[in-house]
Amino acid sequence: MWKYIRKYLHFAVIAAAFMVGEVLMDLLQPELMSAIVDDGVLGAGTGGVGNLHLIWTLGLKMICLVLFGGLCGSLNNVFVHLTGQNIGNDMRKDCFRKIMEFSFPQMDRFGAGSLVTRVTNDITQVQNFVSQFVRGMIRTSMLMFGSIFFMFRLNRDFGRIVLCAFPFIVGILALCLSKANPLFGKLQAQLDEINAIMQEDVSGIRIIKACVRELYEKIRFGKANDELVKTQLQVLTIFAFMNPAVNALMYVVVLIILAAGSVEVGTGTATPGTIIAAITYTTQLLNGILMLVMLFQNISRGIASWGRVREVLDSEPDLKDGGFTGSTMLHGQIEFKNVSFAYPGSPQVVLKNINLTIHPGETVAIMGTTGCGKSSLVNLIPRFYDATEGDVLVDGVNVREYDQKALRRKISIALQKSELFSAPIRENIAWGKPGASAEEIAQAARTAQADGFICAAPDGYDTLVAERGMSLSGGQKQRISIARSIVKGAEILIFDDSTSALDLKTEADLYAALKETSPASTKIIIAQRIASVRRADRIVVLEGGQIAACGTHEELIKSCPVYQDIYDSQMGEEERYG
Ligand SMILES: Nc1ncnc2c1ncn2[C@@H]1O[C@H](COP(=O)(O)OP(=O)(O)OP(=O)(O)O)[C@@H](O)[C@H]1O
Ligand SMILES: [Mg+2]
Repeated sequence: MWKYIRKYLHFAVIAAAFMVGEVLMDLLQPELMSAIVDDGVLGAGTGGVGNLHLIWTLGLKMICLVLFGGLCGSLNNVFVHLTGQNIGNDMRKDCFRKIMEFSFPQMDRFGAGSLVTRVTNDITQVQNFVSQFVRGMIRTSMLMFGSIFFMFRLNRDFGRIVLCAFPFIVGILALCLSKANPLFGKLQAQLDEINAIMQEDVSGIRIIKACVRELYEKIRFGKANDELVKTQLQVLTIFAFMNPAVNALMYVVVLIILAAGSVEVGTGTATPGTIIAAITYTTQLLNGILMLVMLFQNISRGIASWGRVREVLDSEPDLKDGGFTGSTMLHGQIEFKNVSFAYPGSPQVVLKNINLTIHPGETVAIMGTTGCGKSSLVNLIPRFYDATEGDVLVDGVNVREYDQKALRRKISIALQKSELFSAPIRENIAWGKPGASAEEIAQAARTAQADGFICAAPDGYDTLVAERGMSLSGGQKQRISIARSIVKGAEILIFDDSTSALDLKTEADLYAALKETSPASTKIIIAQRIASVRRADRIVVLEGGQIAACGTHEELIKSCPVYQDIYDSQMGEEERYG
């Protein structure tokens, strides 16, 4: 935290100086009030004759103090917020930068909902904590210790009475905070849950409506919300009981001061003005304590949130860069050597002992039943995950030895689920190659068979894509994703089931165009349909995470029963388009 505070320490120090001014003005007023009552109203020094001139002079002095105190308070607020907002801004940027560096396993571990809560709500809590701390700590401690000090200066007996009440107040505060503290971490975790549900439900609203699951989701969200409210009410109840308890204690103090004061006025050791001033100081002390309670509440919440923000900031990327950025004699060779893989934290072995070499310029298709490990296999090539056993080599170099960016520059991947951004189609394609020319973008779109529908749209390549590509059909999204991967011009092209939403004719045209425009690149095509893969140089059949067979369409149709089964089930389509 110090790293962030240090940068804006000057704002915090200026804020603190203004706060000292504000509180000093508050503390000087009761003494003036005491003088107004004793000398101005009761005429203590002039034989009981009031002094109107003195009342006006001291009254004016009081108003000046109030105005000056108010000015100090306003300036303090400005500098406090400059400190808090700037710190929050830096933290948000750092967290975002960190999240961008996260590996896939780290993203899986945190979850998107939790990361959103941490970057938004948790950092706001930390920001509030810093502001409250800078403003509140000085104000409360000065108000508390200042009023006790002035009270002693006014009358030692009154000072002692207030001091005696102190241990009781501390006891009440400690009890309440010990009860409330564990609830703050729980509150943030429950917010995570609500955010995760919100994200899922808002992005999946179409499927919720289609499956008429609105009621179920309403209940799920309602339950999470009720839990949050329950915890929040527990916290509020604790503090709701604490405030009157502290208040009552302070009124007991006021009563004792009045009783002791009445005796002392009789003996001449105190004046009515002193009693009024003592009561004002007691009220100020009470204000200080109540403020301290609020402050502790914010601090506790801020500390709980800071812990969660720190988890993000302190996470080191768990894929260590190898640093290799050089070039090799090979361009586009991939080798799996005895590769086995299980997702971090999962006992299921997804890939078992894979041995496969894909040569530069070769087109290799991967087929297999759903969940057999096709996506997992190709995700090891750009090192989205690390193999649990064995090695993955790209151009003869182990992927662990590469600088991650250098490795990923060699590879272009169109993911199974097309992710588009809310930007014009042109930008979505150029994402693959920042600074790509209009002709390069159009050429990639033509190869991806996307040029037709893009040009037919009123704004052509400038058509805005809605959030997550909502304004496009599944097949259109897939083709833009493919164009994005093609424009990159990488040595290795991976299509993870990226043409599943295309009709067979468009898909066949796409692969033919790709063969023509990118003859040298190595192509890995994951697909479910024989028509998509039959022209590949080799077809790898995966079964239960293992390679069941590998060969050309003609070889597999003769020798691989799994492939034969798939072929038989798709025969009709094959004959028409094959
Ligand atoms: N992030 C993950 N964490 C844990 N397990 C996962 C993860 N992703 C996939 N799996 C599991 O790994 C196995 C293989 O998944 P994978 O996505 O590789 O299958 P696939 O062959 O691509 O299937 P599909 O044809 O449906 O895309 C599945 O059993 C799946 O449950
Ligand atoms: Mg898959």
